[in-house]
Amino acid sequence: MKETLERIRQEALSALEGTQAAQELEALRVKYLGKKGELTAVLKQMGRLSAEDRPVMGQLANEVRASLERAIETAAKKLESAALEARLKAEAVDVTIPGQSIRQGRKHPMYLALDEIKDIFVGMGFTVLDGPEVELAELNFDRLNAEEGHPSRDWSDTFYFDEDSRVMLRSQTSPMQVRAMDSMELPIRIIAPGRVYRKDEVDATHSPMFHQVEGMVIDKGVTMADLKGTLNTVVEQLYGKGTVTRFRPHHFPFTEPSCEMDVQCHKCGGAGCPTCKGEGWIELLGAGMIHPNVLRMAHIDPEVYSGWAFGMGLERTAMRRFKIADLRLIFENDVRFLEQF
Ligand code: PHE
Repeated sequence: MKETLERIRQEALSALEGTQAAQELEALRVKYLGKKGELTAVLKQMGRLSAEDRPVMGQLANEVRASLERAIETAAKKLESAALEARLKAEAVDVTIPGQSIRQGRKHPMYLALDEIKDIFVGMGFTVLDGPEVELAELNFDRLNAEEGHPSRDWSDTFYFDEDSRVMLRSQTSPMQVRAMDSMELPIRIIAPGRVYRKDEVDATHSPMFHQVEGMVIDKGVTMADLKGTLNTVVEQLYGKGTVTRFRPHHFPFTEPSCEMDVQCHKCGGAGCPTCKGEGWIELLGAGMIHPNVLRMAHIDPEVYSGWAFGMGLERTAMRRFKIADLRLIFENDVRFLEQF
């Protein structure tokens, strides 16, 4: 029996030393110490021993059991710390690896220019209005003194929705003048930015969809001097002090007198180049004193009130502000272009 016990001890201890996994360890525990285990089987035979052998063998058996239990405990601890180490290794984060950068978008240059324009006008007490792109021809034309037969009403210039030419994509932001007159108390100081549509072919300076900013002031005693003074101030804030402008006589059905405002070409400084088509000047906006007919149609007495209005091309303003040569760049949304602003 002594030999059996020693053999079990040897075998079990060396087996325990090589355990790699918790299941393996449990199997060994059952094999030696379990109810049907080898050591248990030996203990069951104790009864057959002589009275003097029994305590000696009993002690030895207890020793073997104790040493096996200790070995099992040690092996379990070893497995546990090996498992922990493996997990730490697997979950390790290398804080020295550079992070993944997130691609961040930015505002379109035209909207940057619009933000500046809004800031300038809001600083002068103007309210910013928003209005529909699908507009009634009545507001886009009739109420703006452009009667039936006016060339801009032609189907070749304007996108209509119906045979009767009553509903259209607005061809200018000027109907916002009418909407403001119809809905606001006098005096009025508004700007109204937004999209407008005309049947134009795409080229370096044209697009069937573009943006305008409408502006209007109506009050008692407003004159052309206010128009020029205000717009010159705006242009200097937008393009820098000393920016040279000029006003040319023009014609719009809804203003009288009417003018166009040019700024000196940013590319050539007035000498003439491809950007300004050799003219030295770039047309920036149309403007004028609101026609008495337009005021009357809005039930405003032209003997008491007067006003001025302007319509500014936003793409053109952004092109001049950021020195962009081709209108198409504004709409193509090439990231390499947009990233520069
Ligand atoms: N609506 C005109 C255009 O599109 C511009 C304009 C607006 C002119 C206001 C005078 C007054 O050309």
